[in-house]
Amino acid sequence: MRILVLGGDGYLGWPTAMHFSSEGDEVMVVDNFSKRQIELNFGIEPLDSIATLHRRVALWKEVTGRKIHLHVGDLLNHRFIYKVLEEFEPEAILHYAEQPSAPYSMWTREYAVYTQHNNVIGTLNLLFAIKRHCPEAHLVKLGTMGEHGRLAIDRNEGYSINRPSGRTDGVSYPQSPGSFYHLSKIHDAYNINFTCQNWGLRATDLAQGVVYGFETDHTRLHPELRTSFHYDDIFGTVINRFLVQAVAGSPLTVYGQGQKPRSFLNLLDTIKFVELAVENPPRPGEFRVFNQFTEVFTVNQLAEMVREAARTNGIEVSIQHLENPRHEPEELPYPVKPAKVSELGLSPHLLSAGLITQMLDYIAGAAARINPEVFLPRIKWRQDSKMTVMD
Ligand SMILES: NC(=O)c1ccc[n+]([C@@H]2O[C@H](COP(=O)([O-])OP(=O)(O)OC[C@H]3O[C@@H](n4cnc5c(N)ncnc54)[C@H](O)[C@@H]3O)[C@@H](O)[C@H]2O)c1
Repeated sequence: MRILVLGGDGYLGWPTAMHFSSEGDEVMVVDNFSKRQIELNFGIEPLDSIATLHRRVALWKEVTGRKIHLHVGDLLNHRFIYKVLEEFEPEAILHYAEQPSAPYSMWTREYAVYTQHNNVIGTLNLLFAIKRHCPEAHLVKLGTMGEHGRLAIDRNEGYSINRPSGRTDGVSYPQSPGSFYHLSKIHDAYNINFTCQNWGLRATDLAQGVVYGFETDHTRLHPELRTSFHYDDIFGTVINRFLVQAVAGSPLTVYGQGQKPRSFLNLLDTIKFVELAVENPPRPGEFRVFNQFTEVFTVNQLAEMVREAARTNGIEVSIQHLENPRHEPEELPYPVKPAKVSELGLSPHLLSAGLITQMLDYIAGAAARINPEVFLPRIKWRQDSKMTVMD
């Protein structure tokens, strides 16, 4: 298949591109390097320095003999994305190209506006480009479980209900998101659903949990084929941060009481879920939402798992509770509906002590590059939050 990976320089986009290329698909990556610009603006870096996308694409060719096409450009430039679709004629479009940080979107008016403009208008430009140049293409869009938000109701894989008459209506399941970033994802979903209903496009929205891990068979082929691994307060996700804090011998910082359950999945399973979605496309006019996660943990459980694994490896770390910089209920039941996409065939890679140890070992190899100054949250959802240590 001809597969277009938007956001191909990113944490998920690059290993996805290598995966499909290794399967023999014709792959093109697109990126505007806006994530690297945000990193530069705030002095944050992934744990390992990451080769440029041009270098990684050239190296991939050298190591595997396979070509990944590369276009540098911005989804906000509609002429650019029209041209890419016209020339490449993708059969599947994997859309990762958004600003992915909830804290960043909550920092200032400017970053909230940037996030929503980049994500919503970028996706809207893409939808118009698909309509014009490849209306049969299957759009696979990365959403998040955070769209479901704070409601203590079943997190259904929404957008379709069956009426007694037998007719199926496309409506959104009730949502209550927790940041301007999550709101951008919901706005996207409405726009995509609308274009499926009105223009006959076909799309899958993957409501994804928090991803952890940084290695795949392909990133291991060469150190410069690695994908980015963030542990800072802007882009770092919770497991990644705990692992790096443990290696640095710093307390594992839990926000609030840490009793809120969250959904997680391994990087390898993100790629597999996307592959399953691509192999099983919706019919024209259909908008599907799949929940995409494999496990649910509270943050306390995660901290305990990392502390235990670190202890077995001779590292003693404490767990410290900070006042929650986010505005979210402390405890929620997590009545998540199991991911339907799993039924298509997935053997999940679950978070085991062995896997945590493996990740700790890897991080220990890059310990000299750890910057403990980016461990603590700078961005508060509420201005009156004092960010104090609770115990
Ligand atoms: N990483 C996770 O745990 C996670 C969880 C849930 C959902 N997601 C979603 O998955 C997608 C990918 O996440 P990620 O962690 O790989 O993020 P990432 O920031 O590493 O990758 C996104 C890439 O898209 C590029 N990009 C952003 N806006 C663009 C634009 N207008 N034009 C062209 N390129 C643009 C960035 O430069 C970056 O390289 C995002 O939509 C994110 O919201 C990620």
